[in-house]
Amino acid sequence: MQRILIDTDPGVDDAYAILLAMRSPELCVEAITTVCGNVPVEQATQNLFTILGSLDLDEFPIIAQGEAAPLVKPLVTAAHVHGDDGLGNTSHLRDTDGNQRYFHANTTLSSLSGVDLILEAASQYPDELIVVALGPLTNLAKAIRKDAAKMRRLQKIVVMGGVFEDYGNVTTTAEFNIFIDPHAAQEVFQFGVPVHIFPLDATHQVVLTGERLRAEIEGRDDKVSRFLWDATQACMEFYRQHVGFWGFHIHDALPIAALTSPDYFESVDAYIQVETEGDLTNGMTVADLRPERQRHNPNAQVCVKVAAAFLDSFFKRLR
Ligand code: BDR
Ligand code: CA
Repeated sequence: MQRILIDTDPGVDDAYAILLAMRSPELCVEAITTVCGNVPVEQATQNLFTILGSLDLDEFPIIAQGEAAPLVKPLVTAAHVHGDDGLGNTSHLRDTDGNQRYFHANTTLSSLSGVDLILEAASQYPDELIVVALGPLTNLAKAIRKDAAKMRRLQKIVVMGGVFEDYGNVTTTAEFNIFIDPHAAQEVFQFGVPVHIFPLDATHQVVLTGERLRAEIEGRDDKVSRFLWDATQACMEFYRQHVGFWGFHIHDALPIAALTSPDYFESVDAYIQVETEGDLTNGMTVADLRPERQRHNPNAQVCVKVAAAFLDSFFKRLR
């Protein structure tokens, strides 16, 4: 059993990742912290409660609200991709009888800040805890600044973010999570705790089409399927209009799946850095991934390949 803390900015694909984690018996989700990113942090926290509300659980992970602004840059959100509330507007959905369709999980927010909860969990499970970061790395950078010794006791940090050889999804050169807080990402990558990163180069290899999603979950009467179908509509519409297909990439689910099903993923060692200054290249992740190159002092493993069978196992677990 692997103990994990999820740091997230939900986000439709964050919802897929969180639900996958909660449905993976190999993982024990000890805590979840929210961070600003796809939406402002208060909305991210509301969304987390809605996501967990789709599960019938007696016990929930500890939840804490994290940072409301990136270290240096002003916050830019992605509500245009994920729907106004960041979750396909599921918070406003009503059933035909007029009743609200989705409810918050019956649990409360910790009095700790996200940063303090990360530090507490790191010291409670020394050398064991894995942090899975699905949003900008602001909380982690602040936790490192506050108590580096405790953060050194993390087993590893698994990140969805960056892009190395493909195009970015915010600018030509930058992926969203890193673009929002490049300074935080650079501090986390240079810190020294092993990083396993899942960039767009990998997540773009998994295309969840609307047709596949429909075949897998539309019309099923369990709450999780219904919720995911509703939550994904706005996002798939965005992809239809701006990316060129009806469907979407479930970016954030990959690092979770890599913990439970490592055989689907291939990674290489690399030294990764983030451009924090450039105008055209702000938030760009930089690494030499050429296979023939010797890797001196790698600070990360970079996922370069994902097996198509990943999606089959993903849906099996969700059911
Ligand atoms: C990342 O950006 C966010 O919009 C998604 O939730 C994901 O974490 C993909 O670039
Ligand atoms: Ca995310």
